[in-house]
Amino acid sequence: MDPLFKIRNLNLYYGDFQALKSIDMDIPKNQVTALIGPSGCGKSTFIRCLNRMNDLIDSARVEGSIEYVGEEANGPDYNVIELRKKVGMVFQNPNPFPMSIYDNVAYGPRQQGLKDKEKLNEIVEKSLKQAALFDEVSDRLPNSAMGLSGGQQQRLCIARALAMEPDVILMDEPTSALDPIATQKIEDLINVLKEHYTIIIVTHSMQQAARISDYTAFFYMGELREIGETDQIFKAPQLKQTEDYITGRFG
Ligand SMILES: Nc1ncnc2c1ncn2[C@@H]1O[C@H](COP(=O)(O)OP(=O)(O)OP(=O)(O)O)[C@@H](O)[C@H]1O
Ligand SMILES: [Mg+2]
Repeated sequence: MDPLFKIRNLNLYYGDFQALKSIDMDIPKNQVTALIGPSGCGKSTFIRCLNRMNDLIDSARVEGSIEYVGEEANGPDYNVIELRKKVGMVFQNPNPFPMSIYDNVAYGPRQQGLKDKEKLNEIVEKSLKQAALFDEVSDRLPNSAMGLSGGQQQRLCIARALAMEPDVILMDEPTSALDPIATQKIEDLINVLKEHYTIIIVTHSMQQAARISDYTAFFYMGELREIGETDQIFKAPQLKQTEDYITGRFG
């Protein structure tokens, strides 16, 4: 099977500090890949490479190859705007824009020039439904998104990403600011979304990685130390270090 992302010899430097060290990794389509590893090992840095968000960090220098659907995406001529449409992102702390629920979801499509009210209504409704939020907010779409609970805000951010019709959703610790019930809702959602989307999720919860991911990648000090099917990584890791991390002996 052709991977969606094919990463080869990826090195990333913040100034003189090397945060990612010759990473080789294939990311399969329509699967959930979990990234785990101790704080500071490079998970967020890595995930930001996949939609070129590190371009926004002045000190960051990225070397190596990141192929996305067979095309080199790390080159200077690559269309980064298109890439970010295809590869959406959800962050640790829900970050809705200070505007209405409706406008949050319509924001991206409007930015792209869509003005047709009916079309926008359609996209907003569909995205909110996909994010399992519609029923909770359908009667208050004009209200401020800031009035939603944290869990609802995070699902709104997922809806906002979905409105761009992405292929991939990057999630950097999307539930770490949420309570167990809100977390459960996001996990359920991920299980449904993976039918149509490729999901790459950073998590500090081993239980979460085991519950929701198909593949797990263990990072340590900027290196991808081990990657495999989640079952294998949790039941029979090849490295003692992986085992020590997932059993909570360090990290
Ligand atoms: N903008 C930056 N400038 C300089 N160094 C950075 C920057 N961002 C991250 N780093 C460094 O790069 C390394 C990897 O950081 P990163 O945020 O990717 O780790 P992480 O695995 O996501 O950690 P956490 O689990 O705590 O979120 C760390 O040593 C961090 O201090
Ligand atoms: Mg991080």
